[in-house]
Amino acid sequence: MRKKITIIGAGNVGATTAQLTAKDGLADVVLFDIAEGVPQGKALDIAEACPLWGSAVSVTGSNSYDDTAGSDIVVITAGFPRKPHMSRDDLLHANANVVQSASEAIAKTSPDAIIIVVTNPMDAMAQLSWKTTEFSCRRVMGMGGILDASRFRSFLAWEMSVSPVDIETMVLGGHGDQMVPLPRFTTVKGIQVTEILKKKRVDALIHRTRNGGAEIVGLLKSGSAYYAPAAATYQMMRSVLLDEKRLLPCAAYLNGEYGVKDLYVGVPVILGKEGVEKVVELKLTKEEKVMFRESCAAVRKLVKKLGI
Ligand code: APR
Repeated sequence: MRKKITIIGAGNVGATTAQLTAKDGLADVVLFDIAEGVPQGKALDIAEACPLWGSAVSVTGSNSYDDTAGSDIVVITAGFPRKPHMSRDDLLHANANVVQSASEAIAKTSPDAIIIVVTNPMDAMAQLSWKTTEFSCRRVMGMGGILDASRFRSFLAWEMSVSPVDIETMVLGGHGDQMVPLPRFTTVKGIQVTEILKKKRVDALIHRTRNGGAEIVGLLKSGSAYYAPAAATYQMMRSVLLDEKRLLPCAAYLNGEYGVKDLYVGVPVILGKEGVEKVVELKLTKEEKVMFRESCAAVRKLVKKLGI
């Protein structure tokens, strides 16, 4: 039997994630939204593209959680995107209500699911979803680091005129302004980027990466990024569904790793059929540790505001 994926929120990120999933024939897709007709209409449109993609999966839309029952993976994208001059953190309370109600419903209808949280501020929303569902922390994770890393890879590739595919990098910390891109773990086909580019240039690209989401919000004027966020979410789903065991930066629950306790934050993890199968601990320099701790502190502040 084919696997079943539910995407909560049929907006820009949700619908694009559904499209990528259906195109690759990865799993049957249920798009869920509170807006009547929207998930049905977008699902129908995607389903009608499947013959052209050579994909035989089913894509349906619904306003009822009953139709999402028994999902293998549930992606939460429901909520509000930011507007210009808003940070991801400004969405905290509005999106907490949405994520909490979605998580309550998922716990009832898909008790064995793996949850990928995309709604911002993502790290705090992942913690909220985990607390609400009471699922094992291995089965609840957040999408952020892959997107930030992909932005950094793009900027580096343009700077060096090389293929972004050949660039590997790692980004730690919260999916916010204080994320920690790591040049020490950034290579072009194994060659350290710090050997190719001057520190000043690398620092400028790190700055652009930290502001990557805001840059797009500023251009769009209404709404936030969704093509790259959906592609990053798709990579996580694929690693879980196909048990690929990719090493990817995701928001995962830390219980002592990196000296951090009881907090969701971005770290490298192995993603497989069990969800977060391992948190990979990197040996950080003093300077990296300080930046990581500051980023964790910013996430913890939000979690405290939620009282969870
Ligand atoms: N249950 C289900 N869907 C909901 C709920 C809810 N309680 N509340 C809102 N929605 C739906 C909206 O109806 C809308 O279709 O969530 C969707 C959000 O879509 P967009 O406004 O297009 O936002 P999008 O760009 O997809 O971003 C969603 O992902 O990247 C993050 O910061 C971003 O938090 C935002 C989220």
